[in-house]
Amino acid sequence: MLPRNLKRWTGGAADKAPARDGLAPRHVAIIMDGNGRWAAARGLPRAEGHRRGVEALRRAVKSAHELGVEHLTLYSFSAENWSRPAEEVSDLLNLLRMFIRRDLTELHRSDVRIRVIGERDGLPPDIVKHLEEAENLTSQNSGLTLIVAFNYGGRQEIVGAVRRIAEAVRDGRLDPAAIDAAAVAAQLDTAEIPDPDLVIRTSGEQRISNFLLWQSAYSEFVFLPIHWPDFDREAFAAAIASFRARERRFGGRVAQAGE
Ligand code: FPP
Repeated sequence: MLPRNLKRWTGGAADKAPARDGLAPRHVAIIMDGNGRWAAARGLPRAEGHRRGVEALRRAVKSAHELGVEHLTLYSFSAENWSRPAEEVSDLLNLLRMFIRRDLTELHRSDVRIRVIGERDGLPPDIVKHLEEAENLTSQNSGLTLIVAFNYGGRQEIVGAVRRIAEAVRDGRLDPAAIDAAAVAAQLDTAEIPDPDLVIRTSGEQRISNFLLWQSAYSEFVFLPIHWPDFDREAFAAAIASFRARERRFGGRVAQAGE
């Protein structure tokens, strides 16, 4: 059974409502928020909240696979997270190191393909090496694609794309008239990854926080009132059920009876 408040937030869709279109979202992107508050509520250090956050992350990958999701993007470290106290930044970097060291073999064995989005310049060299190793080792896998957003910011990503396009125009390789949405999308870190159908944010906050700004133009959003360390398969299924009960219009309109 879902907690009552979770049911309210997802419209209770997990328990009833057959999907409108019967489709699971192909791509789910998650803002994993609330580790600090989860820890504070228990009188624990923030680091413990992040550590439990990694456990929730493992559950999310497993559940994504079971729930038929093809792409899962996790907002693991934002370009703005550097402004946190040095000790917390160091804890988060260490958790990433440990995650890759401990989980990479198992993820590879489970046919998970890992992709990393975000700025690599300025990251500690061993972290860049870990990220590249994860991408290279799993590049031929064809199961779930796990997209790790690390040192990622949507605005920074768009600025980079604009800069590359401007350079191509300057060098005479691109006609400005040929710049369309597809040309911009092709310059983003997510080139070749379908846009997210569903964006989930935990912790009850309702904002996008510089995550997948371009890509989420027509995403459905589900905000869950639980903190990230409590995220489990049931919460994931509830969010997906809420998504499936929605009517996606992509700016158009749904045909009325008689049309
Ligand atoms: C939000 O909690 C979470 C993050 C800063 C990023 C997510 C990090 C993890 C799930 C653990 C690290 C995993 C890897 C692989 C690096 P918060 O600290 O913003 O919580 P609060 O808003 O309650 O303070």
